[in-house]
Amino acid sequence: MKNADSVKALSEIAQNINTIQSIEPLLEKILEIALDVLQAERGFVLLRNEGGDKSYEIKTSRNLNESEITGITQLSTSVIDSVLSDGEPILVFEAQSDPRYSEKESIVIQKIQSIACVPLSIKNRQIGAIYLDSVSKRSLFTNENLPFITAFANQAAVALENARLYESLRDENRRLRDEVQRIHGFSEIIGQSRQMNGIFDIVSRVLDSDIDVLIEGESGTGKELIARAIHYNGARNDNPFMALFCGSLPDSLLESELFGHKKGSFTGAIANKQGLFEAADGGTFFLDEIGDLTLNIQSKLLRVLQEGEIKRVGENEIRKVNVRIVSATNKKLSDLVAEGTFREDLYYRLNTICIEMPPLRERAGDVPLLAHHFLDKSPQARKRQIKGFEPSAIDALSAYHWPGNVRELENTINRAIVMARQDMICRDDLRLPDNESTDTAGGNLTLKELERRAVKQTLDALDGNVSQAARVLDVSRRWLHYRIKEWQI
Ligand SMILES: Nc1ncnc2c1ncn2[C@@H]1O[C@H](COP(=O)(O)OP(=O)(O)OP(=O)(O)O)[C@@H](O)[C@H]1O
Ligand SMILES: [Mg+2]
Repeated sequence: MKNADSVKALSEIAQNINTIQSIEPLLEKILEIALDVLQAERGFVLLRNEGGDKSYEIKTSRNLNESEITGITQLSTSVIDSVLSDGEPILVFEAQSDPRYSEKESIVIQKIQSIACVPLSIKNRQIGAIYLDSVSKRSLFTNENLPFITAFANQAAVALENARLYESLRDENRRLRDEVQRIHGFSEIIGQSRQMNGIFDIVSRVLDSDIDVLIEGESGTGKELIARAIHYNGARNDNPFMALFCGSLPDSLLESELFGHKKGSFTGAIANKQGLFEAADGGTFFLDEIGDLTLNIQSKLLRVLQEGEIKRVGENEIRKVNVRIVSATNKKLSDLVAEGTFREDLYYRLNTICIEMPPLRERAGDVPLLAHHFLDKSPQARKRQIKGFEPSAIDALSAYHWPGNVRELENTINRAIVMARQDMICRDDLRLPDNESTDTAGGNLTLKELERRAVKQTLDALDGNVSQAARVLDVSRRWLHYRIKEWQI
C-alpha cells in the first residue's frame, strides 16, 4: 500500500466512522473497512468486557462461523491475549511454517496463512482488538502495513469510545425524560370523581392523535396540567412543548413572538428571530387564554392552522410547520363568538375536541384526595412532621365553595401546614373564609361586579402589588393582570 493510498484511506475512514453514533453499526463498519483496505478474507472485532477482568466478547465477524472463531480464540494465549495485554499489534506472515503457530489446531484445520491482530487502544488501555486473516495468501500483512494498521485502529478506538459515551448520554437522557414524563404525566393529576374519570378518558383517547384540543375551565382547574399531560404522554413527547400566554403581549410583539421576524423588519428587530411556531415544530404548542387574542392575530393563526405554514414578520419566505395546538381558556369561547370578538371559523378549528375542566366545587369528592396529595408533596409538612387532617378540617374543605379551584386549595393547604400548631391540621388552621358571610351588602350585585370590587379593594390595600394581591385572592398573577387590563383598574 502506497503512502498516499493509506493517507486517503485513513481520512475516508475518519469521515465514515466518526459520524456513526451507535456501537453496533460502528463495529460493522470498522471491520468492513479493515477487511477491505487490507484485502483480508476473514475477521472479527472483539471488545473487552467492562469490569477489568481479561474476558472479552466477539462483537462482529465476517466469513467465519462460530466453531472457526472458537478455534481462533484458542490461539488466544499466543495472539489475542498478548495483543490485549501488551497493546502491540501482531502480524504472522507464514503461519503454516512459523514454529510458534504451525502446530496449532486451528491453523492446521483452517489452513490459516497470514494473521493480523491489532489492539484498539485508548490512552494505553486496550478496549479490544481487530483480528484479520487469510487462508489463501501468505504474507498478506507486512511490516509496511503496520503504520497504517496502527493509525486505523487508533481512529477506530476513538470512534468507539465516542459512540459509547454518546450511547450512555442517550440512555441518561431517556431516563431523565421518563422522569419528566412521570412528573408531567397522569400520575400527578389527582381525581377519582366521575367528572375527572371522564376527563382522563378523553385525554387518553386523544393522546396519540394529532387532533387539536381546546380546554375550557375556570381559573385553577388544572387546564395547563392537562395540556402538559397530553403532550408528555403522547406521540410527540420527543419534541418540544411550547406555551404562550396569549394575553400577555401587545399585538405587534405577539405576532413576532408567534411567527418570528426578519432582522430590521421593525424598530428593535436587531436580529433574525425564530417564532414559537417554528420552535414547537414537531411538538405541541399550548396557547393559554386563547380568548384574549385579537381578531387580527386570530386570522393569522387560522391561516397557520389551515395551511400548516408560517411567514416570519418582514419576510416572504414560507416555512412549513407541523405543530399540534392545545389551547385553553377560562371564558366560554362560544360566548365570545356570539359577541363577535372571536372568529367562528377559528373556534371550530380549535374546538375539534373540547375538554371541559369541572370546577372543584362540583367534584367535592376529590377534595380529601387532593388535600392529602398536597400535604404529601410538601417538604414543609415533612419538616414539621404534620401527619394529616382532623376530620372536621376535611369536612370544612369539602364544603367550601373554592372560587379559585385546585390552585386555591393547594395554597390553603400550604398555608395551613405553616400555621398548624399540632401534628394534625385542624379546621382553624385552614383559615377558610366563611362562605355565607361574603359581603354582598347592597344586594343586587352581579358576580362580575363582586369580583371587580374584590380585586380593586385588595390592590388598593396592597398599594397595587400584583403578586401579593394574587396570593391574597388565591388567583394566578396572569389572571389578575388580565382583569386589571380588562377593567382598567
Ligand atoms: N387534578 C389535579 N391534581 C393535582 N393538582 C392539580 C390538579 N388540578 C390542578 N392542580 C394544581 O393546581 C394548580 C393550578 O393548575 P393549572 O395551572 O393547571 O390550572 P389552570 O386551569 O391552567 O389555571 P389558570 O386558569 O389560572 O391558568 C397547579 O399547581 C396544578 O398543579
Ligand atoms: Mg393556566
